[in-house]
Amino acid sequence: MEEHSKKRHKKHGKKEGGFSGQIGFVMAAAGSAVGVGNLWRFPYLAAQDGGGLFILIYLILALTFGFTLLTSDIAVGRRTGKNSINAYAEMSPKWKFLGIVTFLVPVLIMTYYAVIGGWIGRYIVVYLAGQGSDASIDTFFNSFITNPVQSSMFAVIFMFITAWVVFNGVEKGIEKYSRILMPVLLLMIVAIAVFSLTLKFTDPSGVTRTGLQGLYVYLAPDFEGITIARLMQILLDAMSQIFFSLSVSMGIMITYGSYIKKDVDINSSVHQIEFFDSGVALLAGMMIIPSIFVFEGIEGMGAGPSLMFVSLPKVFHSMGFIGNIVGLLFFLMAGFAALTSCVSVLETIVANCMEIFHTRRKKTTLVLTVVYTIASVIIALGYSSFYVEIPLPNGSIAQILDLMDYISNSFMMPFISLLSSILIGWVIGPDWIVEEVEYGGKKFGLKKLYAVMIRYIVPVMMFVLFLQSAGILGWFGL
Ligand code: PHE
Repeated sequence: MEEHSKKRHKKHGKKEGGFSGQIGFVMAAAGSAVGVGNLWRFPYLAAQDGGGLFILIYLILALTFGFTLLTSDIAVGRRTGKNSINAYAEMSPKWKFLGIVTFLVPVLIMTYYAVIGGWIGRYIVVYLAGQGSDASIDTFFNSFITNPVQSSMFAVIFMFITAWVVFNGVEKGIEKYSRILMPVLLLMIVAIAVFSLTLKFTDPSGVTRTGLQGLYVYLAPDFEGITIARLMQILLDAMSQIFFSLSVSMGIMITYGSYIKKDVDINSSVHQIEFFDSGVALLAGMMIIPSIFVFEGIEGMGAGPSLMFVSLPKVFHSMGFIGNIVGLLFFLMAGFAALTSCVSVLETIVANCMEIFHTRRKKTTLVLTVVYTIASVIIALGYSSFYVEIPLPNGSIAQILDLMDYISNSFMMPFISLLSSILIGWVIGPDWIVEEVEYGGKKFGLKKLYAVMIRYIVPVMMFVLFLQSAGILGWFGL
């Protein structure tokens, strides 16, 4: 205990400063959380999983699971002042392996995130050039990603922009850019969402659909054909979306937590980050579902990346001239969202490496930039020169990018949360986290809920999620 309280009073541990205060931290953490997951994954899941029913389940889970996992990561980061590998080692030396597994998640994600960023970059360029009608052609996306030179080039450019932000450090890089980009992103998404509610279109068969009807499709809970198995599936979809969306269980929030000062209120920061993240997800749905509904009917909703890169460009095209502007705004906003997320992934790797190898930020960033530029090109070529088809346990066929995504998000993250909740809930005890949140007399209103969640509910749910992503639940028809 003595030992602990000494450590708790040392400064926030970092050699080279951290966030300037709570706002800077919340913007950077929200920057990490708000990403392509909010823009394409959330709306698509909502459309597929019963509209308002999914939204309701998602919000309840965000306030319970999301809150628990986010609080844990941030408090672990601030209390230890370290990055995942050493933070876990400090919590309990025997559990260092879990810190290493956690570190591997960003290591994997970084191989492909810049590739997705590059896709967005390509669309920004298309709309800047006023060529929205090209982008609306069905084959546009495919011919771009299967073009080895173009797809690698855009990935590399995105990689360099990310590296530039990280190179400049926590306060002068990450915080500075997040403080500008996040409020702009919010304004843009509100504007497009409101605009999409005003849409109206009569299709060739004479049916007129409006944005407000689309809003109804999005928000009204759909209980048709709901069975226990189906409800379970929706619950698991919402659960895995929360992980991905809040950037938890991958060491990112531990690293960002290690950069905050002792006077920052962790509890209110968690609420603000969640509010931002869920708010953007809800707005993304409000923008995408009504506009697709108006122009294409609800059958027009593509799954996964095709929603953003194939369905939406068609919608922008149907809007006529203004579609070029809305398309540009949309992809710029998506670019900001992806950039601040990608920055958080690279930062986490850089910070862990600096700690392990005792190297300086600039040099570490440069070396990792070289490594990940090569990795990004390999992944980008996974749709052309290195094309493969790998069957996944969930029944889909993966290219290299999907495989990396599956291993890191569907497989490793529930596993890490399962073991972390056992470590915190049962080995070191929830009080270790509660003390950190309450440090300096701060309030932690939901600490009872936190303790119950981390000890009982999180481990059970994570176990189920893990079984599902390993394909084991499929054996029982779930
Ligand atoms: N949270 C981001 C999103 O919602 C995704 C992400 C995952 C960001 C991993 C960083 C790291 O899109």
